[in-house]
Amino acid sequence: MPVKVTKLLPSLTLILLLLRFVSTIDGSEFTIIEATVADIQRAFADGRLTSRQLVDLYIDQIERLNPLLRGVLEVNPDARHEAERADRERDEANRGRRSWVGLGELHGVPVMVKESIATKDKMNTTAGSYALLGSEVPRDATVVERLRRAGAVILGKATLTEWYGTRSSRIPNGWCARAGQAVNPYVESGDPCGSSSGPAISVAANMVAVSVGTETDASIICPADHNSVVGIKPTVGLTSRAGVVPISPRQDTIGPICRTVSDAVYVLDAIAGYDPADHEATKSAGKFIPEGGYKQFLKKDGLKGKRLGVVRNPFLLSYNGSSAVSAFEHHLDTLRKKGATIIDHLEIENINIILDPYQSGEAVALLSEFKVGIKKYLEELIKSPVRSLADIIAFNSDNPDLEMMEKYGQDEFLISETTSGIGEDVLKAVELMKKLSEDGFEKLMDENELDAIVTLGWGASTMLAIGGYPAITVPAGYESDGMPFGICFGGLKGTEPKLIEIAYDFEQSTKARRVPPILKLGCMEF
Ligand SMILES: *[C@@H]1O[C@H](CO)[C@@H](O)[C@H](O)[C@H]1NC(C)=O
Ligand SMILES: *[C@@H]1O[C@H](CO)[C@@H](O)[C@H](O)[C@H]1NC(C)=O
Repeated sequence: MPVKVTKLLPSLTLILLLLRFVSTIDGSEFTIIEATVADIQRAFADGRLTSRQLVDLYIDQIERLNPLLRGVLEVNPDARHEAERADRERDEANRGRRSWVGLGELHGVPVMVKESIATKDKMNTTAGSYALLGSEVPRDATVVERLRRAGAVILGKATLTEWYGTRSSRIPNGWCARAGQAVNPYVESGDPCGSSSGPAISVAANMVAVSVGTETDASIICPADHNSVVGIKPTVGLTSRAGVVPISPRQDTIGPICRTVSDAVYVLDAIAGYDPADHEATKSAGKFIPEGGYKQFLKKDGLKGKRLGVVRNPFLLSYNGSSAVSAFEHHLDTLRKKGATIIDHLEIENINIILDPYQSGEAVALLSEFKVGIKKYLEELIKSPVRSLADIIAFNSDNPDLEMMEKYGQDEFLISETTSGIGEDVLKAVELMKKLSEDGFEKLMDENELDAIVTLGWGASTMLAIGGYPAITVPAGYESDGMPFGICFGGLKGTEPKLIEIAYDFEQSTKARRVPPILKLGCMEF
Protein backbone atom coordinates (compact mmCIF):
# COMPACT_ATOMS: atom_id res chain seq x y z
CA MET A 1 0.00 0.00 0.00
CA PRO A 2 2.50 2.70 1.08
CA VAL A 3 4.52 1.87 -1.98
CA LYS A 4 1.51 2.48 -4.16
CA VAL A 5 0.81 5.88 -2.60
CA THR A 6 4.31 7.18 -3.12
CA LYS A 7 4.14 5.98 -6.66
CA LEU A 8 0.84 7.73 -7.18
CA LEU A 9 1.92 11.02 -5.71
CA PRO A 10 3.99 12.36 -8.59
CA SER A 11 1.28 11.59 -11.13
CA LEU A 12 -1.39 13.25 -8.96
CA THR A 13 0.76 16.35 -8.71
CA LEU A 14 1.13 16.24 -12.45
CA ILE A 15 -2.62 16.01 -12.94
CA LEU A 16 -3.21 18.89 -10.55
CA LEU A 17 -0.59 20.96 -12.31
CA LEU A 18 -2.17 20.12 -15.62
CA LEU A 19 -5.62 21.13 -14.37
CA ARG A 20 -4.23 24.43 -13.15
CA PHE A 21 -2.56 24.98 -16.46
CA VAL A 22 -5.75 24.38 -18.39
CA SER A 23 -7.93 26.52 -16.16
CA THR A 24 -5.46 29.40 -16.20
CA ILE A 25 -5.16 29.66 -19.91
CA ASP A 26 -8.60 28.54 -20.98
CA GLY A 27 -10.46 30.18 -18.10
CA SER A 28 -11.34 33.80 -17.61
CA GLU A 29 -7.78 34.85 -16.92
CA PHE A 30 -6.43 34.43 -20.39
CA THR A 31 -8.04 33.70 -23.69
CA ILE A 32 -6.42 33.98 -27.08
CA ILE A 33 -9.61 35.37 -28.59
CA GLU A 34 -8.83 39.01 -29.38
CA ALA A 35 -5.74 38.93 -27.16
CA THR A 36 -3.61 42.00 -27.85
CA VAL A 37 0.15 42.11 -27.65
CA ALA A 38 -0.23 44.10 -24.42
CA ASP A 39 -2.57 41.40 -22.98
CA ILE A 40 -0.04 38.74 -23.93
CA GLN A 41 2.89 40.61 -22.39
CA ARG A 42 0.90 41.17 -19.19
CA ALA A 43 0.08 37.45 -19.01
CA PHE A 44 3.75 36.60 -19.60
CA ALA A 45 4.83 39.03 -16.89
CA ASP A 46 2.29 37.70 -14.36
CA GLY A 47 3.38 34.13 -15.04
CA ARG A 48 -0.12 33.24 -16.26
CA LEU A 49 1.09 32.27 -19.72
CA THR A 50 4.20 31.09 -21.47
CA SER A 51 5.08 31.62 -25.08
CA ARG A 52 5.08 27.84 -25.53
CA GLN A 53 1.48 27.62 -24.24
CA LEU A 54 0.47 30.47 -26.52
CA VAL A 55 1.99 28.78 -29.56
CA ASP A 56 0.15 25.56 -28.67
CA LEU A 57 -3.15 27.46 -28.41
CA TYR A 58 -2.67 29.13 -31.79
CA ILE A 59 -1.64 25.87 -33.45
CA ASP A 60 -4.85 24.29 -32.07
CA GLN A 61 -6.81 27.16 -33.53
CA ILE A 62 -5.06 26.76 -36.89
CA GLU A 63 -5.82 23.03 -36.91
CA ARG A 64 -9.49 23.74 -36.21
CA LEU A 65 -10.09 26.68 -38.53
CA ASN A 66 -7.51 26.61 -41.28
CA PRO A 67 -8.90 23.65 -43.24
CA LEU A 68 -11.85 25.93 -43.95
CA LEU A 69 -10.24 29.38 -44.07
CA ARG A 70 -6.89 28.59 -45.72
CA GLY A 71 -5.16 31.63 -44.31
CA VAL A 72 -2.08 29.67 -43.28
CA LEU A 73 0.11 27.92 -45.82
CA GLU A 74 2.73 26.45 -43.49
CA VAL A 75 3.17 26.16 -39.74
CA ASN A 76 6.76 26.53 -38.59
CA PRO A 77 7.96 23.10 -37.37
CA ASP A 78 10.34 25.00 -35.04
CA ALA A 79 7.71 27.37 -33.57
CA ARG A 80 7.42 25.47 -30.27
CA HIS A 81 11.18 25.38 -29.98
CA GLU A 82 11.45 29.13 -30.66
CA ALA A 83 8.76 29.78 -28.05
CA GLU A 84 10.65 27.73 -25.47
CA ARG A 85 13.75 29.76 -26.20
CA ALA A 86 11.78 32.96 -25.59
CA ASP A 87 10.43 31.51 -22.32
CA ARG A 88 13.96 30.67 -21.21
CA GLU A 89 15.14 34.19 -22.00
CA ARG A 90 12.26 35.72 -20.03
CA ASP A 91 12.98 33.37 -17.16
CA GLU A 92 16.65 34.36 -17.15
CA ALA A 93 15.72 38.04 -17.16
CA ASN A 94 13.31 37.45 -14.26
CA ARG A 95 16.11 35.93 -12.25
CA GLY A 96 18.46 38.76 -13.06
CA ARG A 97 20.69 36.53 -15.13
CA ARG A 98 20.12 38.51 -18.27
CA SER A 99 19.22 42.05 -19.23
CA TRP A 100 15.65 42.95 -20.16
CA VAL A 101 17.11 44.88 -23.08
CA GLY A 102 15.84 43.32 -26.26
CA LEU A 103 12.88 41.69 -24.53
CA GLY A 104 10.44 44.19 -26.03
CA GLU A 105 6.77 44.07 -26.94
CA LEU A 106 7.12 41.26 -29.47
CA HIS A 107 9.29 39.01 -27.35
CA GLY A 108 7.70 35.56 -27.31
CA VAL A 109 4.79 36.76 -29.46
CA PRO A 110 3.74 34.50 -32.38
CA VAL A 111 3.74 36.24 -35.77
CA MET A 112 2.59 35.02 -39.17
CA VAL A 113 4.41 36.35 -42.22
CA LYS A 114 3.12 36.36 -45.77
CA GLU A 115 4.59 33.37 -47.52
CA SER A 116 6.47 35.47 -50.10
CA ILE A 117 8.64 36.93 -47.31
CA ALA A 118 11.76 34.76 -47.13
CA THR A 119 12.45 32.71 -44.03
CA LYS A 120 15.71 30.78 -43.80
CA ASP A 121 14.26 27.85 -41.90
CA LYS A 122 12.25 24.71 -42.59
CA MET A 123 9.49 26.72 -44.29
CA ASN A 124 9.22 27.45 -48.00
CA THR A 125 9.09 30.78 -49.79
CA THR A 126 7.20 30.33 -53.06
CA ALA A 127 4.70 33.18 -53.57
CA GLY A 128 2.09 30.42 -53.41
CA SER A 129 3.33 28.75 -56.59
CA TYR A 130 4.68 25.25 -57.14
CA ALA A 131 7.28 26.79 -59.47
CA LEU A 132 9.33 27.92 -56.46
CA LEU A 133 8.82 24.83 -54.32
CA GLY A 134 12.20 23.35 -53.55
CA SER A 135 13.99 26.68 -53.87
CA GLU A 136 16.35 27.75 -51.12
CA VAL A 137 16.64 31.35 -49.97
CA PRO A 138 20.05 32.79 -49.08
CA ARG A 139 18.84 34.31 -45.79
CA ASP A 140 15.88 35.60 -43.84
CA ALA A 141 14.21 38.64 -45.34
CA THR A 142 15.39 41.67 -43.38
CA VAL A 143 11.95 42.16 -41.82
CA VAL A 144 12.05 38.55 -40.56
CA GLU A 145 15.55 39.06 -39.22
CA ARG A 146 14.24 42.11 -37.34
CA LEU A 147 11.23 40.21 -35.99
CA ARG A 148 13.49 37.43 -34.72
CA ARG A 149 15.84 39.99 -33.18
CA ALA A 150 12.82 41.45 -31.36
CA GLY A 151 12.19 37.97 -29.95
CA ALA A 152 9.07 37.22 -31.99
CA VAL A 153 8.21 33.60 -32.71
CA ILE A 154 7.68 32.97 -36.42
CA LEU A 155 4.56 30.80 -36.16
CA GLY A 156 4.06 30.24 -39.87
CA LYS A 157 3.65 31.54 -43.38
CA ALA A 158 0.37 33.04 -44.50
CA THR A 159 -1.33 32.43 -47.85
CA LEU A 160 -1.60 35.01 -50.60
CA THR A 161 -2.94 35.54 -54.06
CA GLU A 162 -0.39 33.61 -56.12
CA TRP A 163 2.47 35.83 -57.32
CA TYR A 164 0.43 38.74 -55.86
CA GLY A 165 -1.97 38.37 -58.76
CA THR A 166 0.71 39.25 -61.33
CA ARG A 167 0.27 35.89 -63.08
CA SER A 168 -3.17 36.37 -64.49
CA SER A 169 -6.17 38.66 -64.50
CA ARG A 170 -8.32 35.58 -63.92
CA ILE A 171 -6.87 34.46 -60.60
CA PRO A 172 -9.31 35.32 -57.81
CA ASN A 173 -8.19 37.16 -54.68
CA GLY A 174 -6.77 34.74 -52.14
CA TRP A 175 -6.17 31.86 -54.52
CA CYS A 176 -2.78 30.19 -54.90
CA ALA A 177 -1.94 26.77 -56.27
CA ARG A 178 -0.30 25.55 -53.06
CA ALA A 179 -3.15 26.48 -50.68
CA GLY A 180 -6.25 26.73 -52.85
CA GLN A 181 -8.89 29.39 -52.25
CA ALA A 182 -8.67 31.39 -49.02
CA VAL A 183 -12.03 32.14 -47.37
CA ASN A 184 -13.28 35.32 -45.73
CA PRO A 185 -13.99 34.42 -42.07
CA TYR A 186 -17.00 36.78 -41.94
CA VAL A 187 -18.89 35.81 -45.09
CA GLU A 188 -18.00 32.48 -46.65
CA SER A 189 -18.84 33.67 -50.16
CA GLY A 190 -17.31 37.11 -49.51
CA ASP A 191 -14.15 38.37 -51.16
CA PRO A 192 -11.14 37.89 -48.82
CA CYS A 193 -9.34 40.38 -51.08
CA GLY A 194 -5.61 40.07 -51.65
CA SER A 195 -2.87 39.67 -52.08
CA SER A 196 -2.15 39.59 -48.32
CA SER A 197 -5.29 37.50 -47.77
CA GLY A 198 -3.65 35.03 -45.40
CA PRO A 199 -2.12 37.58 -43.02
CA ALA A 200 -5.50 39.33 -42.72
CA ILE A 201 -7.51 36.10 -42.32
CA SER A 202 -5.08 34.61 -39.81
CA VAL A 203 -5.32 37.57 -37.42
CA ALA A 204 -9.04 38.10 -38.03
CA ALA A 205 -9.75 34.47 -37.07
CA ASN A 206 -7.38 34.61 -34.09
CA MET A 207 -5.04 31.99 -35.53
CA VAL A 208 -2.06 34.15 -34.54
CA ALA A 209 -1.29 37.28 -32.52
CA VAL A 210 0.02 39.55 -35.31
CA SER A 211 0.99 39.32 -38.96
CA VAL A 212 3.05 40.95 -41.67
CA GLY A 213 1.93 41.46 -45.26
CA THR A 214 3.16 43.25 -48.36
CA GLU A 215 1.59 45.76 -50.69
CA THR A 216 2.34 47.04 -54.16
CA ASP A 217 -1.17 48.39 -54.74
CA ALA A 218 -3.98 47.64 -52.26
CA SER A 219 -2.52 44.33 -51.02
CA ILE A 220 -2.44 45.33 -47.34
CA ILE A 221 -5.23 47.89 -47.27
CA CYS A 222 -7.85 45.83 -49.12
CA PRO A 223 -7.56 42.47 -47.31
CA ALA A 224 -7.36 44.28 -43.95
CA ASP A 225 -10.54 46.18 -44.92
CA HIS A 226 -12.38 43.03 -46.07
CA ASN A 227 -11.39 40.93 -43.04
CA SER A 228 -12.04 43.58 -40.39
CA VAL A 229 -8.51 44.12 -39.19
CA VAL A 230 -5.99 46.97 -39.07
CA GLY A 231 -3.47 47.31 -41.89
CA ILE A 232 -0.55 49.71 -42.02
CA LYS A 233 0.89 50.33 -45.48
CA PRO A 234 4.12 52.17 -44.65
CA THR A 235 5.75 54.83 -46.82
CA VAL A 236 7.80 52.95 -49.44
CA GLY A 237 11.28 52.39 -47.97
CA LEU A 238 10.28 52.71 -44.31
CA THR A 239 10.57 48.90 -44.17
CA SER A 240 13.15 46.89 -46.10
CA ARG A 241 12.03 44.79 -49.06
CA ALA A 242 15.25 42.73 -49.11
CA GLY A 243 14.43 39.04 -49.27
CA VAL A 244 10.81 39.55 -50.29
CA VAL A 245 9.51 38.32 -53.65
CA PRO A 246 9.27 41.63 -55.54
CA ILE A 247 6.98 43.36 -58.00
CA SER A 248 8.29 46.92 -58.03
CA PRO A 249 11.04 48.73 -56.10
CA ARG A 250 8.98 51.94 -56.52
CA GLN A 251 5.81 50.64 -54.93
CA ASP A 252 6.52 47.52 -52.84
CA THR A 253 6.24 48.00 -49.10
CA ILE A 254 6.08 45.62 -46.13
CA GLY A 255 3.68 46.31 -43.28
CA PRO A 256 1.73 44.94 -40.32
CA ILE A 257 -1.76 43.46 -40.42
CA CYS A 258 -3.16 43.09 -36.89
CA ARG A 259 -6.38 43.23 -34.88
CA THR A 260 -5.60 46.58 -33.27
CA VAL A 261 -3.73 49.77 -34.14
CA SER A 262 -1.40 49.38 -31.18
CA ASP A 263 -0.47 45.80 -32.13
CA ALA A 264 0.27 47.04 -35.65
CA VAL A 265 2.44 49.84 -34.26
CA TYR A 266 4.48 47.38 -32.16
CA VAL A 267 5.12 45.37 -35.33
CA LEU A 268 5.97 48.50 -37.31
CA ASP A 269 8.48 49.53 -34.65
CA ALA A 270 10.13 46.13 -34.94
CA ILE A 271 10.39 46.03 -38.75
CA ALA A 272 11.03 49.67 -39.78
CA GLY A 273 14.54 50.92 -40.36
CA TYR A 274 17.53 51.33 -42.62
CA ASP A 275 18.85 48.24 -44.39
CA PRO A 276 22.02 48.22 -46.49
CA ALA A 277 20.45 45.43 -48.57
CA ASP A 278 17.70 47.87 -49.64
CA HIS A 279 19.95 50.90 -49.43
CA GLU A 280 18.42 53.67 -51.51
CA ALA A 281 14.79 53.38 -50.43
CA THR A 282 15.42 52.68 -46.75
CA LYS A 283 18.02 55.45 -46.52
CA SER A 284 15.69 58.02 -48.01
CA ALA A 285 12.70 56.95 -45.87
CA GLY A 286 14.86 56.43 -42.77
CA LYS A 287 14.74 60.16 -42.04
CA PHE A 288 11.01 59.83 -41.30
CA ILE A 289 11.46 57.38 -38.43
CA PRO A 290 11.05 59.31 -35.18
CA GLU A 291 13.34 58.97 -32.20
CA GLY A 292 11.73 56.52 -29.81
CA GLY A 293 9.68 54.83 -32.52
CA TYR A 294 5.95 54.98 -33.20
CA LYS A 295 4.44 53.91 -29.84
CA GLN A 296 4.48 57.50 -28.59
CA PHE A 297 1.73 58.33 -31.13
CA LEU A 298 -0.80 55.92 -29.59
CA LYS A 299 -2.52 58.87 -27.94
CA LYS A 300 -6.06 59.12 -26.66
CA ASP A 301 -6.54 62.63 -28.06
CA GLY A 302 -4.86 61.94 -31.38
CA LEU A 303 -7.71 63.41 -33.44
CA LYS A 304 -7.66 66.78 -31.72
CA GLY A 305 -6.76 69.54 -34.17
CA LYS A 306 -6.33 67.23 -37.14
CA ARG A 307 -7.55 68.34 -40.58
CA LEU A 308 -9.08 65.49 -42.53
CA GLY A 309 -10.15 65.69 -46.16
CA VAL A 310 -13.08 63.81 -47.67
CA VAL A 311 -13.15 63.14 -51.42
CA ARG A 312 -16.61 61.76 -52.15
CA ASN A 313 -16.18 61.50 -55.88
CA PRO A 314 -15.26 58.74 -56.65
CA PHE A 315 -14.42 57.06 -53.33
CA LEU A 316 -17.95 56.96 -51.95
CA LEU A 317 -19.72 56.13 -55.21
CA SER A 318 -18.93 52.43 -55.22
CA TYR A 319 -20.75 52.18 -51.88
CA ASN A 320 -23.91 53.85 -53.19
CA GLY A 321 -26.88 52.05 -51.67
CA SER A 322 -24.82 50.34 -48.98
CA SER A 323 -25.41 50.78 -45.24
CA ALA A 324 -21.69 51.52 -45.08
CA VAL A 325 -22.41 55.05 -46.33
CA SER A 326 -24.53 56.00 -43.31
CA ALA A 327 -21.96 54.38 -41.05
CA PHE A 328 -19.32 56.54 -42.73
CA GLU A 329 -21.35 59.73 -42.12
CA HIS A 330 -21.70 58.70 -38.49
CA HIS A 331 -17.95 58.11 -38.26
CA LEU A 332 -17.30 61.57 -39.72
CA ASP A 333 -19.40 62.98 -36.87
CA THR A 334 -17.33 61.00 -34.39
CA LEU A 335 -14.13 62.38 -35.90
CA ARG A 336 -15.55 65.92 -35.53
CA LYS A 337 -16.62 65.29 -31.95
CA LYS A 338 -13.11 64.13 -31.15
CA GLY A 339 -11.75 67.46 -32.32
CA ALA A 340 -10.89 66.89 -35.98
CA THR A 341 -11.93 69.29 -38.71
CA ILE A 342 -13.54 67.59 -41.70
CA ILE A 343 -12.97 69.37 -44.99
CA ASP A 344 -15.66 67.78 -47.09
CA HIS A 345 -16.48 67.51 -50.81
CA LEU A 346 -12.91 67.93 -51.99
CA GLU A 347 -11.89 67.01 -55.50
CA ILE A 348 -8.69 65.57 -56.92
CA GLU A 349 -7.48 66.64 -60.31
CA ASN A 350 -7.31 63.80 -62.85
CA ILE A 351 -8.59 61.28 -60.30
CA ASN A 352 -10.01 59.02 -63.00
CA ILE A 353 -6.63 58.84 -64.72
CA ILE A 354 -4.84 58.30 -61.40
CA LEU A 355 -7.08 55.33 -60.58
CA ASP A 356 -6.78 53.74 -64.04
CA PRO A 357 -3.50 51.78 -64.23
CA TYR A 358 -3.66 51.77 -68.03
CA GLN A 359 -3.82 55.57 -68.16
CA SER A 360 -1.58 56.53 -65.24
CA GLY A 361 1.40 54.52 -66.44
CA GLU A 362 1.20 52.12 -63.48
CA ALA A 363 0.51 49.03 -65.60
CA VAL A 364 3.34 49.75 -68.03
CA ALA A 365 5.80 50.29 -65.18
CA LEU A 366 4.77 47.30 -63.05
CA LEU A 367 4.85 44.82 -65.96
CA SER A 368 8.44 45.80 -66.78
CA GLU A 369 9.60 46.16 -63.20
CA PHE A 370 8.28 42.72 -62.26
CA LYS A 371 10.25 40.95 -64.98
CA VAL A 372 13.49 42.68 -63.97
CA GLY A 373 12.89 42.35 -60.22
CA ILE A 374 11.87 38.71 -60.22
CA LYS A 375 14.95 37.79 -62.24
CA LYS A 376 17.20 39.43 -59.69
CA TYR A 377 15.35 37.74 -56.81
CA LEU A 378 15.54 34.30 -58.45
CA GLU A 379 19.22 34.69 -59.30
CA GLU A 380 20.05 35.29 -55.64
CA LEU A 381 18.45 32.03 -54.51
CA ILE A 382 20.90 29.33 -53.47
CA LYS A 383 18.83 26.69 -55.20
CA SER A 384 15.86 27.17 -57.48
CA PRO A 385 13.99 25.24 -60.15
CA VAL A 386 13.36 28.56 -61.97
CA ARG A 387 15.68 31.50 -62.59
CA SER A 388 13.59 33.86 -64.71
CA LEU A 389 10.05 34.79 -65.62
CA ALA A 390 10.47 32.71 -68.78
CA ASP A 391 11.29 29.68 -66.59
CA ILE A 392 8.17 30.28 -64.46
CA ILE A 393 6.01 30.55 -67.57
CA ALA A 394 7.50 27.29 -68.86
CA PHE A 395 6.91 25.61 -65.50
CA ASN A 396 3.25 26.61 -65.56
CA SER A 397 2.84 25.34 -69.11
CA ASP A 398 4.52 22.06 -68.18
CA ASN A 399 2.41 21.62 -65.02
CA PRO A 400 -1.08 22.71 -66.07
CA ASP A 401 -2.87 20.60 -63.45
CA LEU A 402 -0.76 21.71 -60.49
CA GLU A 403 -1.18 25.38 -61.41
CA MET A 404 -4.79 25.11 -62.70
CA MET A 405 -3.73 26.61 -66.00
CA GLU A 406 -6.92 25.84 -67.89
CA LYS A 407 -8.98 27.80 -65.40
CA TYR A 408 -6.62 30.66 -64.58
CA GLY A 409 -4.00 30.92 -67.34
CA GLN A 410 -1.04 33.30 -67.12
CA ASP A 411 -1.96 36.18 -69.40
CA GLU A 412 -0.20 38.89 -67.36
CA PHE A 413 3.01 36.87 -67.10
CA LEU A 414 2.99 36.57 -70.88
CA ILE A 415 2.62 40.33 -71.30
CA SER A 416 5.30 41.01 -68.70
CA GLU A 417 7.63 38.61 -70.54
CA THR A 418 7.35 40.74 -73.71
CA THR A 419 8.85 43.76 -71.90
CA SER A 420 12.55 44.46 -72.13
CA GLY A 421 13.93 46.16 -69.05
CA ILE A 422 13.45 49.67 -67.74
CA GLY A 423 13.36 51.60 -71.01
CA GLU A 424 12.01 54.92 -72.26
CA ASP A 425 8.39 53.78 -71.95
CA VAL A 426 8.82 52.92 -68.27
CA LEU A 427 10.67 56.14 -67.47
CA LYS A 428 7.88 58.08 -69.15
CA ALA A 429 5.26 56.13 -67.21
CA VAL A 430 7.07 56.84 -63.93
CA GLU A 431 7.31 60.55 -64.81
CA LEU A 432 3.59 60.62 -65.52
CA MET A 433 2.74 58.99 -62.18
CA LYS A 434 4.97 61.51 -60.41
CA LYS A 435 3.22 64.41 -62.08
CA LEU A 436 -0.24 62.94 -61.43
CA SER A 437 0.67 62.54 -57.75
CA GLU A 438 2.03 66.08 -57.45
CA ASP A 439 -0.92 67.69 -59.22
CA GLY A 440 -3.39 65.35 -57.56
CA PHE A 441 -2.93 64.00 -54.05
CA GLU A 442 -0.05 66.26 -52.98
CA LYS A 443 -1.76 69.40 -54.21
CA LEU A 444 -4.98 68.42 -52.43
CA MET A 445 -3.08 67.84 -49.18
CA ASP A 446 -1.05 71.06 -49.43
CA GLU A 447 -3.80 73.43 -50.54
CA ASN A 448 -6.17 72.27 -47.83
CA GLU A 449 -3.43 71.86 -45.22
CA LEU A 450 -4.63 68.34 -44.56
CA ASP A 451 -3.12 65.89 -42.12
CA ALA A 452 -4.82 62.98 -43.92
CA ILE A 453 -7.60 62.07 -46.25
CA VAL A 454 -10.27 59.76 -44.91
CA THR A 455 -12.09 57.34 -47.20
CA LEU A 456 -14.68 54.65 -46.76
CA GLY A 457 -13.13 51.37 -47.85
CA TRP A 458 -9.92 50.80 -49.74
CA GLY A 459 -10.65 52.73 -52.96
CA ALA A 460 -7.87 55.30 -52.45
CA SER A 461 -5.18 52.63 -52.43
CA THR A 462 -4.08 53.03 -56.07
CA MET A 463 -3.68 56.78 -55.65
CA LEU A 464 -1.54 56.17 -52.54
CA ALA A 465 0.37 53.27 -54.15
CA ILE A 466 1.65 55.08 -57.22
CA GLY A 467 3.11 57.84 -55.05
CA GLY A 468 4.58 55.58 -52.36
CA TYR A 469 2.38 57.22 -49.70
CA PRO A 470 1.42 55.61 -46.38
CA ALA A 471 -2.05 54.55 -45.25
CA ILE A 472 -3.75 52.90 -42.30
CA THR A 473 -7.07 51.10 -42.46
CA VAL A 474 -9.17 50.48 -39.36
CA PRO A 475 -12.34 48.34 -39.03
CA ALA A 476 -15.42 50.58 -39.37
CA GLY A 477 -18.44 48.26 -39.46
CA TYR A 478 -20.32 45.53 -41.32
CA GLU A 479 -22.79 45.55 -44.16
CA SER A 480 -26.19 43.89 -43.72
CA ASP A 481 -24.83 40.58 -45.04
CA GLY A 482 -22.01 40.67 -42.46
CA MET A 483 -19.31 41.78 -44.88
CA PRO A 484 -16.78 44.02 -43.09
CA PHE A 485 -15.67 47.44 -44.25
CA GLY A 486 -12.94 49.73 -42.99
CA ILE A 487 -12.00 53.38 -42.98
CA CYS A 488 -8.72 54.32 -44.56
CA PHE A 489 -6.52 57.25 -43.57
CA GLY A 490 -3.90 58.22 -46.15
CA GLY A 491 -1.20 60.86 -45.90
CA LEU A 492 1.96 62.29 -47.41
CA LYS A 493 5.26 60.39 -47.22
CA GLY A 494 6.58 59.89 -43.73
CA THR A 495 3.42 61.03 -41.96
CA GLU A 496 2.94 57.72 -40.11
CA PRO A 497 3.05 59.56 -36.74
CA LYS A 498 -0.05 61.60 -37.66
CA LEU A 499 -1.81 58.63 -39.26
CA ILE A 500 -1.20 56.54 -36.14
CA GLU A 501 -2.56 59.31 -33.89
CA ILE A 502 -5.66 59.57 -36.07
CA ALA A 503 -6.21 55.85 -36.54
CA TYR A 504 -5.67 55.00 -32.88
CA ASP A 505 -8.07 57.65 -31.60
CA PHE A 506 -10.64 56.65 -34.22
CA GLU A 507 -10.33 52.99 -33.23
CA GLN A 508 -10.63 53.75 -29.51
CA SER A 509 -13.65 56.00 -30.14
CA THR A 510 -15.52 53.50 -32.31
CA LYS A 511 -14.34 49.99 -31.33
CA ALA A 512 -16.03 48.69 -34.47
CA ARG A 513 -14.21 45.38 -34.85
CA ARG A 514 -16.21 42.23 -34.03
CA VAL A 515 -14.98 38.67 -33.75
CA PRO A 516 -15.89 36.67 -36.88
CA PRO A 517 -19.14 34.71 -36.37
CA ILE A 518 -17.22 31.51 -37.06
CA LEU A 519 -15.47 31.99 -33.70
CA LYS A 520 -18.51 33.10 -31.72
CA LEU A 521 -20.42 30.02 -32.76
CA GLY A 522 -17.44 27.96 -31.70
CA CYS A 523 -17.88 25.74 -34.70
CA MET A 524 -16.73 25.56 -38.26
CA GLU A 525 -20.13 25.91 -39.87
CA PHE A 526 -21.17 29.29 -41.21
C1 LIG B 1 8.32 22.83 -47.74
O1 LIG B 1 8.10 22.12 -48.94
C2 LIG B 1 8.47 20.76 -48.90
C3 LIG B 1 8.25 20.21 -50.28
O2 LIG B 1 9.25 20.62 -51.11
C4 LIG B 1 7.65 20.04 -47.89
O3 LIG B 1 8.06 18.69 -47.80
C5 LIG B 1 7.81 20.71 -46.54
O4 LIG B 1 6.96 20.11 -45.61
C6 LIG B 1 7.50 22.19 -46.64
N1 LIG B 1 7.78 22.81 -45.36
C7 LIG B 1 6.83 23.09 -44.48
C8 LIG B 1 7.26 23.66 -43.19
O5 LIG B 1 5.64 22.91 -44.68
C1 LIG C 1 -27.19 56.01 -56.07
O1 LIG C 1 -28.17 55.03 -56.30
C2 LIG C 1 -29.47 55.54 -56.53
C3 LIG C 1 -30.41 54.36 -56.70
O2 LIG C 1 -30.26 53.45 -55.65
C4 LIG C 1 -29.48 56.43 -57.74
O3 LIG C 1 -30.76 57.00 -57.91
C5 LIG C 1 -28.44 57.52 -57.58
O4 LIG C 1 -28.33 58.27 -58.76
C6 LIG C 1 -27.08 56.93 -57.25
N1 LIG C 1 -26.15 57.99 -56.98
C7 LIG C 1 -24.98 58.09 -57.58
C8 LIG C 1 -24.16 59.26 -57.18
O5 LIG C 1 -24.56 57.28 -58.38
